[in-house]
Amino acid sequence: HLQEISISPATTLLDYLRQFADLPGTKEGCGEGECGACTVLVGELTNDSVVYKAVASCLFPLGDTDGKHIVSIEGLNQASLNPFQQAMVDEGASQCGYCTPGFIISITSYLLSSPQLDAETAMTALDGNICRCTGYASIKRSIEQVLKNHAGRLLSGTDRLAAAVESGLIPDYFLNIRQQLKKIQKPPELLSARASEKVIHIGGGTDLYVQQGDDLKQQNIRFLSQDESLKRFEEKNNHLLIGAGITMETIRTSPIFANHLPEIGESMKWVSSTLVRNRATLAGNIVNASPIGDLSIMFLVLNGVLTIRKGEQHREVPLSRFFQTYKKIDLEPGELVEHIQIDLPRDNERFSFERISQRAHFDIATCNSALWIK
Ligand code: FES
Ligand code: FES
Repeated sequence: HLQEISISPATTLLDYLRQFADLPGTKEGCGEGECGACTVLVGELTNDSVVYKAVASCLFPLGDTDGKHIVSIEGLNQASLNPFQQAMVDEGASQCGYCTPGFIISITSYLLSSPQLDAETAMTALDGNICRCTGYASIKRSIEQVLKNHAGRLLSGTDRLAAAVESGLIPDYFLNIRQQLKKIQKPPELLSARASEKVIHIGGGTDLYVQQGDDLKQQNIRFLSQDESLKRFEEKNNHLLIGAGITMETIRTSPIFANHLPEIGESMKWVSSTLVRNRATLAGNIVNASPIGDLSIMFLVLNGVLTIRKGEQHREVPLSRFFQTYKKIDLEPGELVEHIQIDLPRDNERFSFERISQRAHFDIATCNSALWIK
């Protein structure tokens, strides 16, 4: 049904769900993308199919739900518990209960999208869902139970959503979403962000929301997540062009990186969590200008050159000149990073990246280094 409200598009999806939509199943824990209690599914039309990803709703702007299908835990409700919910009950895996909706949503996202289905990779899909009370053993057993009964069917067909509906893992209304989303898509010219000095551009927003949160509600905001011109990802003549809007999770799973620079894809698994990587963008990571930003260090070594646009005008800046001094970057108001081009090492050359941090997960590097040896 249609619901009309008048609130800032910068309001978090979490606040909207709990305070305005009366859907309190999604929980608030940290409010900073670190616990997973607020996990929801976001479905987007991609190549004529709906692709679902788990995201942290505490860092997701309401305005960026435009054209997308948002599923909170209530959206998985059926007449009885679905097989994963039942497995969680059978195994006593709903321990404190507070974080349970997040676990259910993250595993649902995994079941809907992972090319392989096994308990080990399922547990890595939970890297952003923190259990502080009891541990993950019973959660893992419930995943094993659901995979034992349903992985075969999910992997056998070409239509994963239909297989998930047949398995009872998601309600059958999911089958109508593709058509519904098609009706509400906007033409590309409306989605391509034009530069304006008075507008704050938000790609993933995963860092901006932690830093500025409520202040963003007073700002004029433009969302970039549907701007296809920021999503180019091409290999050309020993170079790689990566769009500003490409997410960390795309980099982690990209066959191009697996082929040429496996160290980069591999190291992405230490960058935050699946929930954040599904939203965090390449350009966000770079303009953040953190001195220990992993991608910045790697791309500096690989001779990264940024293409920056303002209106119809474009300019190129080597990454080595883009970073001017601590947290000061060569980017004027109204300018937008469009993509970065990096060199690819040749067969007889080696690239290496290493980072040290106090914890393996959810930590920034204390020190990191990249080398390109010719
Ligand atoms: Fe903790 Fe959103 S509330 S990740
Ligand atoms: Fe909720 Fe452990 S089950 S924190």
